[in-house]
Amino acid sequence: MIQPVRWSDGVLELLDQTLLPNREVWLSLVRWEDVADAIRRLAVRGAPAIGIAAAYALVLALGDVRDHQEADQRLSEASRGLSQARPTAVNLFWAIGRMNEVWNAHAGQALPDAQAALLAEAARIHDEDVEGNLRIGAHGAELLPAGCSLLTICNTGGLATGGYGTALGVVRSAWERGKLEVTYLCETRPLLQGARLNAWELLKDRIPYRLLVDGAAGALLRAGKVHAVLVGADRIAANGDTANKIGSYTLACLASRHGVPFYVVAPLSTVDKDTPSGDRIPIEERDAHEVLAPLGCPAAPEGTDAWNPAFDVTPAELITAIITEWGVLRPPYETSIAEALA
Ligand code: MRU
Repeated sequence: MIQPVRWSDGVLELLDQTLLPNREVWLSLVRWEDVADAIRRLAVRGAPAIGIAAAYALVLALGDVRDHQEADQRLSEASRGLSQARPTAVNLFWAIGRMNEVWNAHAGQALPDAQAALLAEAARIHDEDVEGNLRIGAHGAELLPAGCSLLTICNTGGLATGGYGTALGVVRSAWERGKLEVTYLCETRPLLQGARLNAWELLKDRIPYRLLVDGAAGALLRAGKVHAVLVGADRIAANGDTANKIGSYTLACLASRHGVPFYVVAPLSTVDKDTPSGDRIPIEERDAHEVLAPLGCPAAPEGTDAWNPAFDVTPAELITAIITEWGVLRPPYETSIAEALA
């Protein structure tokens, strides 16, 4: 199973996703600040993987503290710093919250015991994500017809999670059950997570795929070549509105126009019950340079400016269902999401 995050004897190892598919380089990190930097520059990316990396980063933050007071101070400093790394994926804040709760629950214990509990919680967050993804894959595959062709955007596979993936996990699961004919991958401008990362994963697993430029999705759907569109999520608001990689909303509009189901695929850790609707989700805007110089190669005249939102919001009314580890959620999402969380 492709897993982008490993904990090895006090060291956090991350597969550097900025170098894929050409080079497989593992970073060995021992400082939380370096993990925050890896999150910021997308060496580790994808909502669940970011949360898992941040959880281990908090363990690193307490590596050499001498007493509880110093540990408390370090934990709040690292929690604050990691929270600022990226704003949209709620899994980051969810994982930091869970780690802080466990720390507080062990306040009265000897320092090594409290540190061990923190490491155990990070490992639990990691393991639960993988287990959840396997369940998500099974729920998702059940919704798909035999011989199906799917369309997806961004990378939502093992690389973006603890392992197996969410939307790409459903692709894997459909393939394992003999239901999949082909998966179409949007290349996912500007950073090409679809072309670089999804293709790398599917090639390794020998799952059939074809790549298309993002702008070709409409023609593909119009030609009747897609049975379902599957996307991941960075944050799902309490009403079901969903933030995901820029271009997801476009796919939702196209799917609706062509009568094709549009599924959001995500663990419940991606649901933010405190954000009532999508217009309250903070959307990360990244450096214009990513658009102006794809893969580092200048593509527009010097002096050109670019708008570079990393995510967009798909309104709940365009979402056929939300596939979670708990089961398949249907509209009205206020009710089905609240039920799943309860
Ligand atoms: O900017 P990225 O590459 O971190 O964006 C990732 C996505 O948009 C994914 O679809 C989302 O995080 C879900 S990953 C299972």
